[in-house]
Amino acid sequence: MAEVVIVENKEIAGALVADEIVRLIDTVAEPVLGLATGSTPLPVYEALRGRLSGHDVSHLRGFALDEYVGIDPEHPESYRSVITREVIEPLGLDPALIRVPNGAIETIQHAGDDYDAAIVAAGGVDLQILGIGTDGHIGFNEPGSSFASTTRIKTLTEQTRKDNARFFDSVHDVPQHCITQGLGTILRARHLVLLAFGENKARAVAAALEGPISAMVPASAVQLHAHVTVVLDEAAASELK
Ligand code: F6R
Repeated sequence: MAEVVIVENKEIAGALVADEIVRLIDTVAEPVLGLATGSTPLPVYEALRGRLSGHDVSHLRGFALDEYVGIDPEHPESYRSVITREVIEPLGLDPALIRVPNGAIETIQHAGDDYDAAIVAAGGVDLQILGIGTDGHIGFNEPGSSFASTTRIKTLTEQTRKDNARFFDSVHDVPQHCITQGLGTILRARHLVLLAFGENKARAVAAALEGPISAMVPASAVQLHAHVTVVLDEAAASELK
């Protein structure tokens, strides 16, 4: 059963998770962090900025959950750019130790397997930060994704493209495909930390935590994991029983 923590606002949520990450950095010799993009994890990255001085981050490895396919890595909304801007630069991490799946079309066939092998070689993810889509996705594992899935190419749903249109000039500019860690990949992380804020996440959160475990609600896969922390604001928690 997941531990569910309901807090007043995202800043408090960010601080809680950042404290946990600092503990990991201080106690594990070669810590591995699973990084999410999108709006949800930003308060965590923000809170980390003020907490890392005096802590050795030189060995911190990171693996992003996903990337758009066919997007120029230099595009400001590629997840490579987002991770550089929001995580690597402000936190002073070694860019060579922070990976984002490779969304280049030419190498997409084996990019997923290469990525999962790199996670294994790093010793696995210690703490995986997760957001949740309004359709219940984690990573970009859209409804119907296998719980055994590994990192691979997926097609984004119309809903997800609409949800992410705010990062682009229009919904037509949101890529159609992505490469995402699979649900099986995500479930191998040792600690899952799922965050959600706002009323528009309430239904997905309730379905994920209290509904049946179903591929139609990919985030319900977290019910299969032994160590899950869910951090919500009151609005995102409003449909929990
Ligand atoms: C991002 C990711 C997605 C997002 C989800 C919620 O790396 O994997 O699952 O966490 O789409 O997005 P936001 O946080 O923008 O509401």
